[in-house]
Parts: sequence; C-alpha cells; structure tokens
Amino acid sequence: MRVAVIGANGQLGSDLVRAFGENAIPLTHRDLDVTDIESLKILKELGPDVIINTAAYHKTDECEENPEKTFLVNSVGARNVATVAKEINAINVYISTDYVFDGEKGKPYTEDDVPNPINIYGVSKYAGELLTRYMHSEHYVTRVSSLFGIAGASGKGGNFVETMIRLAKADREINVVNDMAMSPTYTRDAAFAIKEILEKRLPYGVYHVTNDGFCTWYEFAKAIFEITGIEVDLNPITSDKFPTKAKRPKFSALSIEKLKSFGINMRPWKEALKDYLKEKGHL
Ligand SMILES: NC(=O)c1ccc[n+]([C@@H]2O[C@H](COP(=O)([O-])OP(=O)(O)OC[C@H]3O[C@@H](n4cnc5c(N)ncnc54)[C@H](OP(=O)(O)O)[C@@H]3O)[C@@H](O)[C@H]2O)c1
Repeated sequence: MRVAVIGANGQLGSDLVRAFGENAIPLTHRDLDVTDIESLKILKELGPDVIINTAAYHKTDECEENPEKTFLVNSVGARNVATVAKEINAINVYISTDYVFDGEKGKPYTEDDVPNPINIYGVSKYAGELLTRYMHSEHYVTRVSSLFGIAGASGKGGNFVETMIRLAKADREINVVNDMAMSPTYTRDAAFAIKEILEKRLPYGVYHVTNDGFCTWYEFAKAIFEITGIEVDLNPITSDKFPTKAKRPKFSALSIEKLKSFGINMRPWKEALKDYLKEKGHL
C-alpha cells in the first residue's frame, strides 16, 4: 500500500509519514497546491493506492476574515484531491475536525450526529467532507481534534502544549478557559489509528480519531504543568473573558466508540500527553 501524504511536513502529516515508513510518499506544499488541480497531476504520475489530505487553512479566527481562502483550501482543495483520487482509483482520506459540530450536545459526538458548524472554518471543513464523499465513494473522513504533535502545526506556529510551556517559562500568569471541552489528540496516535483503518480496510465513511476522554482547556493546561512539574500561576476563566473573532463550540469532544468497535483502541489523552512531553524533551 503506497500512501501519498499531502501536507507531509505538517503536524499530523509528518507523523503520518513516520507511521507509513517506506510506504509513504511525502508531498509538501512545495510539491503541490490542493487549490490548483493542475498541480495535482504529480499524483497521477506517482500512482499511490491511498491519498491522505491533511492540507488545511485552519487559523480559526483568520478564517472568519478570509472566507475565500478558507473555502478554496478546505473545500475546493478537498474536491480537487477527491477528483484525482477517483481518476487514479486511489482511496481518499480527508482529515476533518470536531469543529463541524456546534457544541450544544453536551456529550461526545458520534459519527451519526449531524454537523452544524458555527464558524467559517467549520463550515469549510464540513463542505470538504461533503465534497470528499460526493466525488469518490472510496473515502474515509477522519475527524481529529485539538492536535499536539512533535512538528507543531505549521499553520498555527506550534500547538497548545508548546504555547503553555512558553508562557510559563516567560513567568507569565496564565488564564485558560474552563468552559470549553474537547478531546486532546496526539498526532502520533491519530496517525497510527488512520494507518490501522486503512490496513483493516474498514467500511468507507466517517471515523472519529482522537485520544480517549475529554477535558476543558484549563484542565489540559493543568495536566501539562502537573506532568512537567513547571510551577505556574494558572487560572481558570470563562470564555466570555477571552473574546475571539470566531465562535467556538463549547463541548466538541468526539466519541471513539465506532473506532473501538473495529478493534482500534486509543489511549487516554493524559498518557499520550506524557509521551509527547517526553519525546519533545520537556521531561
Ligand atoms: N491543529 C489542530 O488542532 C486540528 C484540529 C482539528 C482538525 N485539524 C485538521 O487536521 C489537519 C492537520 O492539521 P495540522 O495541525 O497537522 O496542520 P498543519 O501542521 O498546519 O499542516 C497542514 C499542512 O498542509 C500544508 N498546506 C496548507 N495549505 C496547502 C495547500 N493549499 N496545498 C498543499 N498543502 C497545503 C501545510 O504546508 P505549509 O505550512 O507549507 O503551507 C502543512 O504542511 C487539517 O486538515 C486540520 O483542518 C487540526
């Protein structure tokens, strides 16, 4: 199984490349641009069995002000990749997000819940999901959330864990929202789960791929400092004290029961966090 990874030097992309090892065909933004279907010709030349599209414009607040770019990368880009995947008979994997949900459910979302995004980024990713499905039946939509990975998100200049550690080292008082919950996810674990989905040839469709459990952003920050032993002045705040351009779902944890039902188990997010901190040299 030869696997083309689009966004190969991104946070999730680089772990996917590692997970697939010699079967990976890493493709960076320099090699192709998902918004330009002509540039995707390279995929036809390479002839992979699978194309994983991790490319995204995902600065959620910026997306509100740049809807054209957001839809071009996240939706039209998804359509372009799916079109080529169909042409060359490759399985298409589109990486999506917990932000397709509105956060009103109050318990973890399953794959059967109907998305109802509340910001431009979420709308564009949901459109990307629909276009992926519409263009080519041989597809997986894998929804991940709140990623932390060794490479750091190139689109966001790092990740939450690194931001917390940087602020703590700068001896800053840190305020973190305690009324928004999600499932923190180590990109390494997500990458291996996506590999298993492909290896096990699970039925095509949508899969939630996160570490097990959920927490608020404040609880996530608290765990980072507890594990590393960094002393810090950390305060829980409510999100109304931290206004942002884009609305964000209050509770976007994803249920991974479907994944588990196929024998793919994800470890609890705290265990994954410990491993990440070790690997990153913080422990
Ligand atoms: N980060 C999160 O917390 C999070 C949460 C939920 C879902 N997701 C989804 O997970 C996926 C991976 O996220 P990530 O954190 O790994 O992001 P990332 O580190 O920013 O990686 C995205 C990669 O895509 C490339 N890229 C961007 N625009 C492109 C284009 N037009 N054509 C080709 N390549 C392009 C980027 O390259 P350049 O940097 O060189 O442009 C980068 O290598 C995304 O689909 C995102 O929507 C992320």
